[in-house]
Formats: sequence, C-alpha cells, structure tokens
Amino acid sequence: MEKAGRDQKERQVTRRFDVVVLGAGAAGMMCAFRAGQRGRSVLVVDHAKAPGEKIRISGGGRCNFTNLHAGPRNYLSANPHFAKSALARYTPRDFLDLVERHKIAWHEKTLGQLFCDDSAKDIVRMLLAEMRAADVVLELQVQPTAVEKTLDGFRILTSGGPVDAGSLVVATGGKSIPKMGATGFAYEIARQFGLKIVETRPGLVPLTLDPHMLEKLSPLSGVAVQAEVRHGKTSFREALLFTHRGLSGPSILQISSFWREGDDVKLAIEPDLDMAQQLKAARKANGRQAAQTALSENLPKRLAQFFVESQGIAGNLADLSDKAIEKLAASIRDWTIRPAGSEGYRTAEVTIGGVDTSDLDSRMMQAKAVPGLYFIGECVDVTGWLGGYNFQWAWASGHVCGEAL
Ligand code: FDA
Repeated sequence: MEKAGRDQKERQVTRRFDVVVLGAGAAGMMCAFRAGQRGRSVLVVDHAKAPGEKIRISGGGRCNFTNLHAGPRNYLSANPHFAKSALARYTPRDFLDLVERHKIAWHEKTLGQLFCDDSAKDIVRMLLAEMRAADVVLELQVQPTAVEKTLDGFRILTSGGPVDAGSLVVATGGKSIPKMGATGFAYEIARQFGLKIVETRPGLVPLTLDPHMLEKLSPLSGVAVQAEVRHGKTSFREALLFTHRGLSGPSILQISSFWREGDDVKLAIEPDLDMAQQLKAARKANGRQAAQTALSENLPKRLAQFFVESQGIAGNLADLSDKAIEKLAASIRDWTIRPAGSEGYRTAEVTIGGVDTSDLDSRMMQAKAVPGLYFIGECVDVTGWLGGYNFQWAWASGHVCGEAL
C-alpha cells in the first residue's frame, strides 16, 4: 500500500519532456532551440546560476564566436574524420546568419576570427531568445545527480526532482576552469552507458618552465613578440608572451594542444625577418652601434638584450664577425625550450579528449549502442584550435543533434 502510494506520488511529480538537455552552454542551448523549433518539448538543466558562462567570458568579453575558415583540419580528435559531417551541415555562415538576424554587430579580427563588436553577452541573449521562441524550458541551479535507462527513454534524477525524457542530450562540457562549474559529469554518464573515453588533458593552455629556466627568462616577463612555435610537424605563427610562470600568448596556447610532457618546443622569434642580414646591414651603416641597439630595431629591447647577453656579446657591431652575427641570428630563429608542464585545467580554454567518437554516430551525435542518448560539444573527443573553432564545433554538433531529436 505504502509502495503503491509512493509510486503514485512519483508519477505525479515526475515531469516528462521529449528531450532533456544537460548543460546550458553553447552546444546545449543550440541543440535545445533547434529541437524546440521542430516541435519537441525540451527541458534544459544546468547547475550554474547563469547560462552560457563560458560564452560570456570568451574572447576577452567579445566572444570569438566562429571562424570563417573552420574545417576538419582545425580540430584534434582520435578520428579526424568524425567532425566532417556536422561541420559541413552547420557552417560558420549558418551561425553568422543567426547573429545577423539578431542584429548583433560583428567584425573579423584576424585569420577569419569573428568577434562581437560590443559584448559576448549578445550571443547569450540571442541563444536565450531562440530558446524562448521555441518554448524551451530552462532550469538553472539544478543539479542532475543520476541517470537511469527506462523502457521508453531515460529518468534523470535532479535536485529539483525526477524528470523523464524520451531523449537525453549530454552537453555539460569538459573539465577546463573548474572554478566556473566545469565537471567531468559527461564522462561519468558516458562510462555508465559503456562508452569509451579518450584520455583527457588540458588544451589551449599556457606552458610553465622549471625554476632554473624561469629565473633565466624572468627579465622577459611581460614581453610579447611575433613567433613561429613548432612541435614536431605542427607550427603556428602568432604572438608569444613571456609570463612570470612561463610561456603564453596565442602561438603557445595553440601548440600546447599538441605538446606532451617531456617534449621540446621550438621558437622562431620574428620568423619573417632575416636577422643576420639586418645586423650585417646595420654593421655596414654604423659599425659603432652596440649589437643590442641594432637588434632592438626589430625586437623588444629586453629580448634583444637577452639574446645578446646569452651569446656573450658585449662590443659594437664592428667587432662582430659574420660568423658571430649568424650565430646570434640563429639563436633567435632556432630556440629550443623544454616546458616543465602546463597551467592545467585551472586556466585551460578547452579539454582535449573525451567521449570516444567511435561510439557516436557522426551525423547526429547519438551513442551507437544506446538509442536516445546523445553527446555534444566539448565533452566529445573533438577539440578545435584557438580562434573560434571550439564554438563552431559546439554550434555544429548541437545543431545536428537538435535536427535528429
Ligand atoms: P560549456 O562549458 O560551454 O557548457 C557546459 C555547461 O554545462 C555549463 O553551463 C556548465 O555550467 C554545465 N555543467 C557542467 N557540469 C554540470 C553538471 N555536473 N551538472 C549540470 N550542469 C553542468 N572558444 C571559442 O571558439 N572562441 C572563444 O573566444 C573562446 N574563448 C574561451 C575563453 C575561455 C576563458 C574559455 C575557458 C574557453 C573559451 N573557448 C572559446 C572555448 C569554449 O568556451 C568552449 O569550447 C565551449 O564553451 C564548449 O561548449 P559546451 O556547450 O560544450 O560546454
């Protein structure tokens, strides 16, 4: 009797939706409104106080919301082909059309990177407006605690009570920036349902140096310069920043996703300049000039001083042989550094690895062995370069999933 009463009570309080989306981030919100537009009843649950917090802080508050050149080659994954289908079916132009329909002003900063003119909050507001228009229910500060398979879908136990769903979409992101509420919840659910996880590690993250190297480079802290940073066959030409912990800036964040502990990275400072030729020309024009002064024509002063001192050069340009100049130039063009580690998930922009794509259908992001269960966005083993690629993956994977629900 007592049990029957309890069952009846549970039936009364267990709400049912066609779709429950866990995570009101970039991928979750995109997926939710697309499914809502297609007539599905959709609930989005998030434990945070506000939706889209990473969107809000992204791109220095202006959100680098896509990249015009986004294609499969801009992503790391154990299966580089997996992202092709979603990226082809929802392109940067598709997202830009949405941005323009909402009259959000934008600009291309560099290398195809599109940013809001005003604020990243415009993107969050846009996604919320789309969700409202599609009658999506959003519940914040609700903690999902467990997921169970039922005969006709899933039961999600949450701090707000149980919810039944025909389909469950996991969009809780990766582990980066735990302070902002990032959790490994998606991986737990994936494991619970037998999906494999590709080992996770921090990506797009500053690299740290050992104390000895740090002391040597400490005078450079705060110096920024153009550089080509190389790891094996992969290289990026963007800004490099020396910090009080080690190395940062776009070129380092990019290479950090490829770097593994114990590996070297190679730096070519100002790779477009022929330093040897410049120094020889300066020696011809004014031999009494100090090498450091001549070098600081093309390099930040402190960096010029660092290279000159590292080569033990003290005199004027006229005192330097061709060989000495070429050696100095080579030290600038071909600098090998072995980072000690990375700053970790505390500051990483993304998590590399995640739900193994071999267990997912690339057209709709459904778990192959668990009909009705979907994984989208950063929790999947697809990680973009720096420059708007990660949001494009979130939009694209969210969109194709929403189309399938
Ligand atoms: P996302 O992390 O956006 O959303 C996950 C949601 O799930 C969050 O709302 C979270 O609260 C919720 N959640 C997590 N665990 C939960 C749990 N256990 N229960 C309930 N809810 C839970 N990319 C880019 O393309 N351009 C850029 O400019 C930037 N800039 C940038 C700056 C910084 C500082 C960071 C940290 C990251 C970026 N990125 C970026 C990366 C980008 O933010 C990231 O790839 C996407 O937000 C991923 O979208 P998702 O929806 O998958 O996860």
